Amino acid sequence: MSRVEFVQMDHSWRSRYESLTSWTWPSSYAVDELAGLPLPFEWEHSVALADRQDGDRLAAEAAFHPFPDFAVPGGRLPANGLTSVAVQPTYRRQGLLRRMISRYLDMSIARGDALSVLLAQEYGIYGRFGYGHASDVVTLRIPHGTRLAAPRSITDRTDLGVDVDYVSPDRDAPFIHRVQRAQSRPGTPVRELPGFQHRALTSPPAPAQPLRILRVTCHDEPAAYALFNRSQDAGTSVAAVSDWNALGTAAEYTLWQTLLNQDLIDTVEARRVPADSVLTSLLPDPRATSPSLHDDLWARILDVPACLTARRYSADLDLALRINDPLIKANDGVWTLRVVNGTAEVSPATPGVSPDVSLSVAQLSAAYLGRPVLAQATRLGPSDDLVEHTPGSANLLHTALSWPELPGTTWGF
Ligand SMILES: CC(C)(COP(=O)(O)OP(=O)(O)OC[C@H]1O[C@@H](n2cnc3c(N)ncnc32)[C@H](O)[C@@H]1OP(=O)(O)O)[C@@H](O)C(=O)NCCC(=O)NCCS
Repeated sequence: MSRVEFVQMDHSWRSRYESLTSWTWPSSYAVDELAGLPLPFEWEHSVALADRQDGDRLAAEAAFHPFPDFAVPGGRLPANGLTSVAVQPTYRRQGLLRRMISRYLDMSIARGDALSVLLAQEYGIYGRFGYGHASDVVTLRIPHGTRLAAPRSITDRTDLGVDVDYVSPDRDAPFIHRVQRAQSRPGTPVRELPGFQHRALTSPPAPAQPLRILRVTCHDEPAAYALFNRSQDAGTSVAAVSDWNALGTAAEYTLWQTLLNQDLIDTVEARRVPADSVLTSLLPDPRATSPSLHDDLWARILDVPACLTARRYSADLDLALRINDPLIKANDGVWTLRVVNGTAEVSPATPGVSPDVSLSVAQLSAAYLGRPVLAQATRLGPSDDLVEHTPGSANLLHTALSWPELPGTTWGF
């Protein structure tokens, strides 16, 4: 007989936490080695369930990273990123994830976070909790020596510096932080806490190769970085980049062209690339890179007025939206969204006002960061996620929510 109750984890739970996560995501570290690494989150930002009948066995846990200045179209808001969600195999499908999500949403709202984001291990899990598929990224396998098709205004820049080295956490953490903070692509989070940053810069144990970094400066200021591993994949030497960021076209061009010029690397595997990035724009033959598309961020609006007023819009609007949110009652209802000169005013609709569009909070969240999905959903006809009551209103909303830069994050959490 199990009695599973919420507990607040602290350092005394560290080895139980590492044991559960390394069961879930196999690691090249032993559990006691993992317990010696920097913890990537604060204990107060975790949710855990323990079995009181089984020596306080950790049955389930999740954690979140505060993203206090999360980039949304034309603005920033307080958000957080849910991560490390794991349930012990013998406790699965007993409602533990549902209990943790409910507790986590309450904690996030109490903190004043307006938006939750996550990267989903499986596509089908989080929609039921109000999350929408909010961005996509592409993986490219680019052959060594590819010449990016950049105009001379970019290739002739002399104010950029480049350095390649093994990662040094103390040296590189501030550099990476500066680049992440200056980025404005919607959906870009920033690793704020030192433990989070240092954990991301920790190399895997031997015999794996140590983590490497390419840094680009502009007038000696941080402008771009790429963290990469080198491995032998069936005789092919691959540099895999899964954590990178670049400020501006010239810095991004320099980052990728330098990697593509490195000797003894057959393929640069560029992961987490937004489809409208500088890199994809400059590829001379995109087919040669075998591009593959993957869902990226899942977003959940926690506070409708805070989210809708924090971003800017591509067209003016005056619509009444019926937002259906079974989990957060404060969101559930009819709202008026009035946009003038790209800036929104949002308020609960006067009782009796008929909505122009009805949307699930998951559908609105999927479109919120600028992923262009509403017009397509409308063409499919009325559904639980979207019903257009005033003809043309869903397309107007689609246009207003779209943004010149696609959402996406160039590093995972
Ligand atoms: C995914 C995981 C966290 C689910 O936990 P759980 O406690 O078994 O989930 P619950 O029993 O609370 O299920 C809640 C709902 O999610 C559904 N669900 C659970 N796992 C699912 C999955 N892998 N795919 C699709 N739906 C899933 C359940 O059917 C249930 O649906 P319903 O309430 O609408 O009928 C757990 O299986 C796990 O730890 N898996 C391995 C790690 C992992 O994938 N983590 C997610 C990281 S993003």
